[in-house]
Formats: sequence, C-alpha cells, structure tokens
Amino acid sequence: MQLLDGKVLSQTIKAELALEVAQLREKGMKVPHLVAVLIGENAASQVYVASKIKSCEEVGFKSTMIRRDADTTEEEVLDIVRKLNEDPDVDGFIVQLPLPKHINEEKVTLAIDHRKDVDGFHPINFGRMAQGLPAFLPATPYGIVEILRRYNIETSGKNCVVVGRSNIVGTPISILLSRKGYPGDCTVTLTHSRTKDLAAEVRRADIIVAAIGIPNFVQGDWVKEGAVVIDVGINRIEDPSKKSGFRLVGDVDFEAVAPKCSYITPVPGGVGLMTVTALLMNTLKACTGEIY
Ligand code: GUN
Repeated sequence: MQLLDGKVLSQTIKAELALEVAQLREKGMKVPHLVAVLIGENAASQVYVASKIKSCEEVGFKSTMIRRDADTTEEEVLDIVRKLNEDPDVDGFIVQLPLPKHINEEKVTLAIDHRKDVDGFHPINFGRMAQGLPAFLPATPYGIVEILRRYNIETSGKNCVVVGRSNIVGTPISILLSRKGYPGDCTVTLTHSRTKDLAAEVRRADIIVAAIGIPNFVQGDWVKEGAVVIDVGINRIEDPSKKSGFRLVGDVDFEAVAPKCSYITPVPGGVGLMTVTALLMNTLKACTGEIY
C-alpha cells in the first residue's frame, strides 16, 4: 500500500505556481488575485477560508477576505458578488458554502461571473466540463484528477465507483473520470443513499472515490485487493484526548481498508490539501486567461 500524499503533492504544485508568479512579475504583469467571501461563523468554513488565504500568500498571489456577519441579507451578498464581478483587479473569487439558511446558495452561485468562478460551481462551467470544453473544474474533483495524474495511476478501462452524488464532488468526478483521455476512460458507477447493495457495488471497484460525508463509511470488507482509494471525507468526530475535543476522519475506515489497497489518500493530508491547491491552479488560469 502506498499513501497518496496530498501534502507533498501540494508543495510540489505550489512551488510550480510560485515560479509562474515570479515569471509574471518579471514580465511586468499583474499577479493572480483571489477573493474569498465568508458569511457567518461556521467553524469549518473559517478554517477552510483561512487555509485558502494562507496558500495564496505562500505562492505569491494577492488575496482578500471579505467577512460579514451571519445576519447579512441575501441582497447584500449579491451586491458583493456584483462588485467583484466588475472589479478588474479581481481575477477569481469564491463564496464559501454553506451560506446561512436565509440566503439562497443557488441564486448567489448563478450571480457569479463564470469567468471568475474559480470554484467551478456555475452551471456554465459545469456544463462546459461535462462537454469536455475548457472550464474551471470544481476544486475537489480537480485535486483528485491531479493526484491520479501525478502518481501515474492507470485509469483507462478501470471500474470506478463513486460513493455520493453531490454537485461539488460526486457528480463532477464521475463525469471527469468517464471522459475520454487521461485521467479518464473509466467505467463509472455513481452510487448514493438509494443504491441497492452498495457494498457489492464498491467491491467491484478498481478505483473508489468516497464522498458521502459519513465518518468511516466504507468498510474493510467492501474493498477489493489492490483497489485505489480516494477518500474525500473530512468529518469531525469527538475525541476527548485531543485539545480541540475532536479529530478528523475520512469517509473510509482507514485502518481496515489501507492494508488491502494499492494506493490510498490519508485524512488529513490527502484530498483536502489538494482542493486548496486546485483552487490556486484555477486562480492562475483566471489571471492568465487560459480558459476565458
Ligand atoms: N464548502 C465546502 N467546500 C467548498 C468549496 O470548495 N468551495 C466553496 N466555496 N465552499 C465550499
């Protein structure tokens, strides 16, 4: 079993991005600028946004955080989005989800100019991705395909089982892995809460992508010998032995599954770090005009 090390991979990619920023500077061009909008006090969101801002600094991007209270109105959020759409200094921006309940996430996502949608959540980017056209790929699926690519993991003709059908992970990764070319050409099964005999489906998988948001969901006896396991889960479970009172576990029972697989992503230190790195890759593309 080999660990798919999101930390080392992120560092490698960040070094490449820093080099590209240095080259832009040398040519007298502007450096990429990412803005993150954070509404409310969601603890996990605060950690994620802080990590995105810190990562920008590491590679020499300009970054800005816009923070507002949980009682901010939908109209105020839409107004922030409109201003960011129009600001020529801003290459890309994200509105961290989840938003407080009184704000319609779909409406906010649709208001984002797709040319600055470095989260790849806008239906224009999703549709372009599905058709294989240049698009901002959603950060987590983009991070996963980079892991597969940079570890040279074979995908052509493999049975891939995706567990979870969310708009931001399960559904887009199932599309990307079934697309023509590398890393793709998989035969993909997209499973979810209504799937009959989920364990039997997962047992057929050469590549498993677990993105259901349930701690330790994928069991040891669900996994075929030699499978590649990508664990997207970042679940907080109580742990009184930790100072914070919790620890992070994935959607895969790592202890039971790891000995059976050829490759597995750890949690933490796997897909999560690559998600942030993929956001940086998208922000560079937004700045250089590689996609639009
Ligand atoms: N919430 C959980 N993941 C994400 C993400 O990738 N982007 C945004 N904007 N919100 C999230």
